[in-house]
Amino acid sequence: MAYSCRMACTSAHHLLLLAFLLFILQHSHMPCEARPTYLNNIIGTNDATNPTSSEVLLQEAKTVTNLRAFFQSIVDLLHFQNATQTAGHKNQLDFEKESELEAPEKIIDTSGAGFIYNAENQVEQEDANTDEAAAEEPHLLMPFQKPASTPGNCKTGNYIDDCWRCDANWQDRRQALASCAIGFGQYAYGGKDGKIYVVTSNNDDIRSPSPGTLRYGVTRSEPLWITFAKDMTIELKGELIVSSYKTIDGRGAEIHIVGTSQITIEGVSNVIVHGIHVHDILTSGPHHILTAPNLRTFRGSSDGDAIHIKGSSNVWVDHCFLAKATDGLVDGTKNSTNITVSNSYFENHNKVMLFGASPKDDYDRNMQITVAFNRFGPGLTQRLPRCRYGSCHVANNFYTSGWGLYAIGGSEDPTFLSQCNRFVAPDATNRKEVTSRIDDDGPTFGGWQKWDWVSTGDSFANGAFFTGSGVQNASASNYDRARSFVPRHASWVAAMTEDAGPLNCVPKSSC
Ligand SMILES: *[C@@H]1O[C@H](CO)[C@@H](O)[C@H](O)[C@H]1NC(C)=O
Ligand SMILES: *[C@@H]1O[C@H](CO)[C@@H](O)[C@H](O)[C@H]1NC(C)=O
Ligand SMILES: *[C@@H]1O[C@H](CO)[C@@H](O)[C@H](O)[C@H]1NC(C)=O
Ligand SMILES: *[C@@H]1O[C@H](CO)[C@@H](O)[C@H](O)[C@H]1NC(C)=O
Repeated sequence: MAYSCRMACTSAHHLLLLAFLLFILQHSHMPCEARPTYLNNIIGTNDATNPTSSEVLLQEAKTVTNLRAFFQSIVDLLHFQNATQTAGHKNQLDFEKESELEAPEKIIDTSGAGFIYNAENQVEQEDANTDEAAAEEPHLLMPFQKPASTPGNCKTGNYIDDCWRCDANWQDRRQALASCAIGFGQYAYGGKDGKIYVVTSNNDDIRSPSPGTLRYGVTRSEPLWITFAKDMTIELKGELIVSSYKTIDGRGAEIHIVGTSQITIEGVSNVIVHGIHVHDILTSGPHHILTAPNLRTFRGSSDGDAIHIKGSSNVWVDHCFLAKATDGLVDGTKNSTNITVSNSYFENHNKVMLFGASPKDDYDRNMQITVAFNRFGPGLTQRLPRCRYGSCHVANNFYTSGWGLYAIGGSEDPTFLSQCNRFVAPDATNRKEVTSRIDDDGPTFGGWQKWDWVSTGDSFANGAFFTGSGVQNASASNYDRARSFVPRHASWVAAMTEDAGPLNCVPKSSC
């Protein structure tokens, strides 16, 4: 038996042995790698030139991991020979890491700016929607079809919530939520016409997930509306790679995604993430992860974002709690577009939301992003959001607790339409400015004075001010690509964002 096995398996064994020897040769003089980014952020202060014993341990652990990943790729090749032919699935999207592209930031001096918006001169938004009756029919700029199956109408003024939240049978009509989005991500279909998939276990196996786990659900080929049987904390062992036409719907349970890895929405479309907590996220990898039935993909080290959107469109993040990650909380990069981030609660994080990762990515000019009805809590430093090249509609958000550096930032001539937000500045006297223009050595398109950034209907408190540039007429066609809905008057913002973050939904009752 042993002899015949040796005959049969001989080529595989030789291949493995050869690979092993090559690997050892290649890595016996591995140069010191840069300090892993998550250590910089989380541990903080150690001198990178004087490696601590934990770094040495980490280095060793990394070598073992790399070795394992290398073997795994050979085993995978033998097991899944036709995996790479899986129709339509991109598995070679290995872009550079955002963290590797970033140089220290140079803030552009805008002190001579011609347009300053503050509490004294704030512009009333003429067409801001203050009509109580209009709560019944969302006042949107893009065509919108209200689902016939949602009788609930809370009349809070929050267009999204009013569309479904007062439906006492929300749990029987979960999929109606998909028709309630607003803004550029409003057509995110999620798993709307798919089956309901119930997560019953918090286990996570990145290579062979079992039915009943979240990872099994997000890697299926068909549309799925994913729900949870009970409260759970899921510690991801590697990136949760979500495929197209999926909704992750945390309503009815308290769901925490924590630990070692991120939610990755990459090279796909039509994903909805609703009602979950994502926090304390680190980087993970390199390793192999199941990304589709019968397909394991090699993944290098992840960025460590909470929700990472790359090369994807039609994505809606709603009513999530997002805090503490290694990189961003919601980052949209590499030709992503049609994204809405709404009704979410953010706290305790440095780089909150980035749309457009690099001055090299000029195709991000196509990006259209809506950031609306969110509540920005304490401990946030910057990027609420930051945009490069694209068009960002920032409307009806409540900045309750200031910011460490700035709220709205950008480079490479992004267009900002800031409407009907409530900005409460931090106490620090030199941090009152909402805006920041950052010179990252990319193209400037004639200088920051030409970038179209306008504030209209915003409400400023504690000395907050917004520096405008470019065309200062929010109705002008320059802002058409950034206009995605008609917001409510800023005086409604506190009430409309009161329930930002996951809702406490009880079956047979309203959320
Ligand atoms: C390989 O592909 C064929 C047809 O494309 C399929 O029937 C078979 O199940 C696949 N094998 C594996 C291991 O995925
Ligand atoms: C960006 O995406 C659009 C469609 O989503 C596509 O037409 C275009 O070719 C993409 N550009 C790049 C540089 O990938
Ligand atoms: C984004 O949405 C617009 C408007 O619905 C649509 O015309 C466009 O094709 C979408 N782009 C992508 C890449 O899905
Ligand atoms: C602003 O732009 C709109 C649309 O082009 C135009 O009708 C209006 O007159 C402009 N307002 C001012 C003050 O220029």
